[in-house]
Amino acid sequence: TAAQKDGYPHYMIKEIHEQPQAILRTITPRIKNGLPFFEDDQIPDSFFEGVTDITIIACGTAMYAGMVGKTMIQNRLQIPVTVTIASEFRYEMPILSKNSMVIAVSQSGETIDTLEALRLASKYTDRTISLVNVKGSSIARESHYALYTHAGPEIAVASTKAYTVQCATMYLLACKLGLSLGKMSEADAKEFIKTLESVPDYIEAVIAKASDVEQLTRQMINSEHTFFIGRGLDYTLTMEGALKLKEISYIHAESYAAGELKHGTIALIAEGVPVIAVATQKHVYSKTISNIREVKARGAYVILLSMDEKITDDSICDVHISLPQVPDEFAIFEAVVILQLIAYYTSVGKGLNPDQPRNLAKSVTVE
Ligand code: G6P
Repeated sequence: TAAQKDGYPHYMIKEIHEQPQAILRTITPRIKNGLPFFEDDQIPDSFFEGVTDITIIACGTAMYAGMVGKTMIQNRLQIPVTVTIASEFRYEMPILSKNSMVIAVSQSGETIDTLEALRLASKYTDRTISLVNVKGSSIARESHYALYTHAGPEIAVASTKAYTVQCATMYLLACKLGLSLGKMSEADAKEFIKTLESVPDYIEAVIAKASDVEQLTRQMINSEHTFFIGRGLDYTLTMEGALKLKEISYIHAESYAAGELKHGTIALIAEGVPVIAVATQKHVYSKTISNIREVKARGAYVILLSMDEKITDDSICDVHISLPQVPDEFAIFEAVVILQLIAYYTSVGKGLNPDQPRNLAKSVTVE
């Protein structure tokens, strides 16, 4: 009913707006003296000590949150992180030892493939932890420790706030691990947490650009194909952005590591094909811009998300969305909100109901 939607036309847009609060609710109780603190979650420090590698198992959007976690943790902590789709993990020979940490990520906590993958992982290590949004759910109960995300109930089938909160929780976990493994100094960790705490404000600022996003999706509603490109953390985000668009607008969307496009898929770039490019990572910024030029030269309609205040060279893109300047690692939280809004307004612009995409269920308890 309209009342439950708080005056928003759909649950999805309501939930997009709820992200700052959801992140605050999730991280605030887990920060003490500016450092990550999991005592209320009853996770002993020994759980983090001596971890040699991490495996993340999940499905769908939760798996894409895992991809963000993987890239960020590997860059920061220099320990190997693998993300495996739960339905694949179950039928592979896991390479895990006692010192492997396994993170199961699930909004519902009931996805059967993730649960079975977790059960298999538990045979190899006592260091399983779940990032779950539903209290008392099966995945939370069966993992050694549960870190609840406090996104609140997510009604829209396409996940938004559950994803950003999973990412935020992953950042907290990474910081804790960084301290335990001696990969992050206390000063580094404090700085990191301080930035994490300011993420909700930056997301607010990005949500304020919703009407600009609505405008630009007019170019997308008649598209058959779209491409999302980025490098590093931006690439992990474009996977989620493409999924979101496919799920609720039924437009074919493909996410590509920006440097990989020319090895084939660029053949599909034709006049007017929308390319959503995310370029927030300084160390690969100029590389991504070159890749954008490649698609622009082939007629793509380029929507660029970056932390530049302005793009002076308008031969690069057709539309630029400027994101607030934050340390590179934290730009994902801003950029994904734009990608969620692109999917939402494209769906609405096509006259679809974004809350109830065809053929999809909120929680999948069949294999
Ligand atoms: C279903 C939903 C997806 C979700 C996935 C994993 O396929 O449609 O939106 O990402 O399950 O769900 P979970 O509850 O485990 O996060």
